[in-house]
Amino acid sequence: MKDASIQTFIEGLPKTELHLHIEGTFEPELMFKIAKRNHLKIDYADVEALKRAYSFNNLQEFLDIYYAGASVLIKEVDFYDLTWAYLTKVSGQNVKHIEIFFDPQTHTDRGVSFETVLNGIYKALKDGQEQLGISFKLIMNFLRHLDEASAFKTLEQALPHKDKIVAVGLDSSEVGNPPSKFKNVFKKALEEGFLTVAHAGEEGPSEYIWEALDLLMVTRIDHGNRCLDDAKLVKRLAEQQTPLTLCPLSNLELKVVRDLKEHPLPTMMAHGLLVTINSDDPAYFGGYMNENYQGVAQALNLSKPQIATLAKNGFKASWLKNDEKQKYIDEIDRYLQKH
Ligand code: ADE
Ligand code: ZN
Repeated sequence: MKDASIQTFIEGLPKTELHLHIEGTFEPELMFKIAKRNHLKIDYADVEALKRAYSFNNLQEFLDIYYAGASVLIKEVDFYDLTWAYLTKVSGQNVKHIEIFFDPQTHTDRGVSFETVLNGIYKALKDGQEQLGISFKLIMNFLRHLDEASAFKTLEQALPHKDKIVAVGLDSSEVGNPPSKFKNVFKKALEEGFLTVAHAGEEGPSEYIWEALDLLMVTRIDHGNRCLDDAKLVKRLAEQQTPLTLCPLSNLELKVVRDLKEHPLPTMMAHGLLVTINSDDPAYFGGYMNENYQGVAQALNLSKPQIATLAKNGFKASWLKNDEKQKYIDEIDRYLQKH
């Protein structure tokens, strides 16, 4: 049984999304629609058959399906429709501010131009800001299973678009592809004025989190679950208040945790880490922001003040200006008092 009052509390809470792959919001219904209009075939007979394939033992099994799904995105309007569908969904979940990833190489390697991808996503984000009141920042991820030369090429393509892209990140198959593989391209990105983030410690070891901090100079760690293996690292992350963008339902679906009841979130909070709740690839993992909050709240028996702290952490960890952060933090404090 869901606790109705906690559920309502979560629904009304102002929230951020700081770890979301736009390609991971591709719902099967929209995937079939776009494939059809692009005269492309999907390997599954229908939406139900595709959904049945969403059962993963690890990150790689998911990535194989995720890249196959993204391959029907061809035209600017496809990227617009993908992003707009996501925005309308989370606008109904009281998500106020988003800092989201896109993976240009997934598309440019198939012959889709960088501008086609970027313009489609960016136009929808602008419309979302105007029509739905959701503010945003855009992060360009490098695929870590590809080489650093390909990442450099992608960075070159981004240079004329610094007005649209604020940060670079690192995603895809983690084990065997450490942050150090990309230290030169991140150095160049930093020199060009981009902020940096990286997926680290999802399946990979805590050493990868050290590398992300010391070699890629990241301002946030995406996931970071494995930091708990290293007390010195936990101390550093807590002292620096480096945000960890946690993704509970993703961790469950990719077998990073066996059960949400075993999620490291409470231990991390007890260590004073700045942890945030996010949805990663919601179309594949069974839920957007409310469902991720609800999942941990229920499994870990979180109190309303703890849930409010997680929402405030989202704003603290964002790249909003300090006065904007404070406005939302005050709003959450008032909301908590009233509920
Ligand atoms: N790309 C999309 N989702 C990802 C995840 N959870 N980890 C690494 N790369 C990803
Ligand atoms: Zn991710």
